[in-house]
Amino acid sequence: MVSDLDQIEQTALEALGSIQEESALETWRVAHLGRSAPLMQVFDQLGKLSKEERPIIGRRANEVKRALEAAYTQRFNDLRQAALLRSIQLERLDVTLPGRALPIGRLHPANISVRTVIRAFADMGFQVYRSPEVETDEFNFGLLNMPPHHPARDMWDTFYTNMPNVSLRPHTSPGQIHVMRTYAPEPIRAILPGMCYRYEQISARKETQFNQIEVLAVGENITMSDLKGTIADLARRLYGPDMRTRFRAAYFPFTEPSAEYDFECLLCGGKGCAVCAGTGWLEIGGCGMVHPIVLQNGGYDPLKFTGFAAGLGTERIMMLKHRIEDIRYFWANDMRFLEQF
Ligand code: DAH
Repeated sequence: MVSDLDQIEQTALEALGSIQEESALETWRVAHLGRSAPLMQVFDQLGKLSKEERPIIGRRANEVKRALEAAYTQRFNDLRQAALLRSIQLERLDVTLPGRALPIGRLHPANISVRTVIRAFADMGFQVYRSPEVETDEFNFGLLNMPPHHPARDMWDTFYTNMPNVSLRPHTSPGQIHVMRTYAPEPIRAILPGMCYRYEQISARKETQFNQIEVLAVGENITMSDLKGTIADLARRLYGPDMRTRFRAAYFPFTEPSAEYDFECLLCGGKGCAVCAGTGWLEIGGCGMVHPIVLQNGGYDPLKFTGFAAGLGTERIMMLKHRIEDIRYFWANDMRFLEQF
């Protein structure tokens, strides 16, 4: 009888040891600890045993029962633990880790600059007007008071196309005619942003493509002092209340009088450095009072209306703000430069 119990215990433990799935445990429990398990039959037959045998067999049977129950619990816990470890390894999800930022794109610094200037003008009440990047000779020059063969056309080294008299615009000024013809005889307060193209020798200050913003105000009482006030206001909005500006007499065919305007050089604080060629000032653009012929070409009566116009290069504005010493960075597509903005 005792050796039967040893056999029962050994068989049950071996069967338990080979179980790999939690679901198979119940079958094992029924077979080895259930009502009709061999061990239970030993208990059932205890009554038939002799007085001497009964306590020995009884104790041993209880030992085996406890051993099997303990082994069952142990196996159950081991399989549970193994299943948990497996699922942790498969999922590898730790919700306590900090999140990772998604690599989203960003605006190109040239566009950041255009938008910054647009916002400053919008705050001053200017509307944005879009004009074409490809223009005819008439719009680029003729309607801006430069008839064919006018020497001032040489001021713009223009990219021509293989269609006669069609070129990439070398400046945003032809947009003045478009916006005037759209709104005449209403007053205008507009800016015209966009890419311009010139057949230039590329250098630290000059590129073959660049963004320009044309400024145009037309009305019945517009004076040069409005122009100067607007430019000074723009400089302060972009660079702070202490920013200084200056105007120098200049010549443009489409304005009379004409000027060039400078912002104080932020790189040296006006003391003079290599970027401002020792002058303490950086040239930002040209401006002036719209020429009567241009007003007329736009559909306004020059005896009744006046206007001011200005052009500014937005890459220049960005260079001044961030101390970028070479305009070629803008189109070189070097991520080390672009990612700084
Ligand atoms: N269009 C000129 C250029 O690109 C800049 C300019 C000068 C624009 C005077 C103006 C102006 O509106 O009045 O060189």
